[in-house]
Amino acid sequence: MNIILFGPPGAGKGTQADNMVKNLNLHKISTGDLLREEIKNNTDLGNKIKSKIDQGLLVSDDIINDLIDKILFNKKYYNRLIFDGYPRNLNQAKSFDLLLTQYNQKLSCVINLDVDKISIIKRILGRLVCSKCGLTFNKYFNPPQKEKYNCNLKYLKARTDDNKKTIEDRFSTYTKKTLPLLDYYADQKILHKIDGTRQINQIFDEIRSILASLET
Ligand code: AP5
Ligand code: MG
Repeated sequence: MNIILFGPPGAGKGTQADNMVKNLNLHKISTGDLLREEIKNNTDLGNKIKSKIDQGLLVSDDIINDLIDKILFNKKYYNRLIFDGYPRNLNQAKSFDLLLTQYNQKLSCVINLDVDKISIIKRILGRLVCSKCGLTFNKYFNPPQKEKYNCNLKYLKARTDDNKKTIEDRFSTYTKKTLPLLDYYADQKILHKIDGTRQINQIFDEIRSILASLET
């Protein structure tokens, strides 16, 4: 099955996608992570992407659609994908539908993690990402404990877009461009809403039961 994890910045999409990869036989596709990888290569394209990300704006649809085309083309991922942070506007959602048809795949469900703005600001300002292993933690809600984290604490960093100003801009972009997609997927009858303000494990349990209900 192919799944979209949907929600505002800091809703916990990446955290839940990582849990799903660990516990279910699925692959995570985070367009944000793929774009940050491109930035690391220090290319002209990477610099353009960085400028958009740091302003809290969306990267162009052409760049994103190209990334997704390559993923869907890859037989290794066939019908076992979790999309974290994609699609983000109506144009991307429509392109996605066309690509899925082209590669003979289907979207099983869209899971919306519903979290209020005050909570997501606190989550984002507390987020720590390991520059070595890529794991994500949180100063307030999910501190890096020895049994979960093996790297040196010096590798834990905040993302460059995790500052107060960019969070406001990201949230505004989300409200204007991405949130309207909920109606698009509700119309297709594949939208599931989850209260994303609960504990990470409780949310994961609910995701599991939604996926189990789709298999029966
Ligand atoms: P992206 O990297 O996708 O950022 P985002 O959508 O803003 O989402 P985040 O990664 O900030 O949050 P998350 O929901 O993954 O939360 P997480 O699990 O980390 O995109 C970055 C940028 O790239 C965009 O702004 C845009 O410029 C560009 N981009 C990406 N995709 C694009 C696309 N398709 N089109 C165009 N441009 C695109 O959790 C957050 C924190 O909270 C963590 O510290 C975590 O430990 C903690 N936490 C998680 N769950 C809980 C919980 N239940 N309770 C308490 N704390 C929790
Ligand atoms: Mg993320």
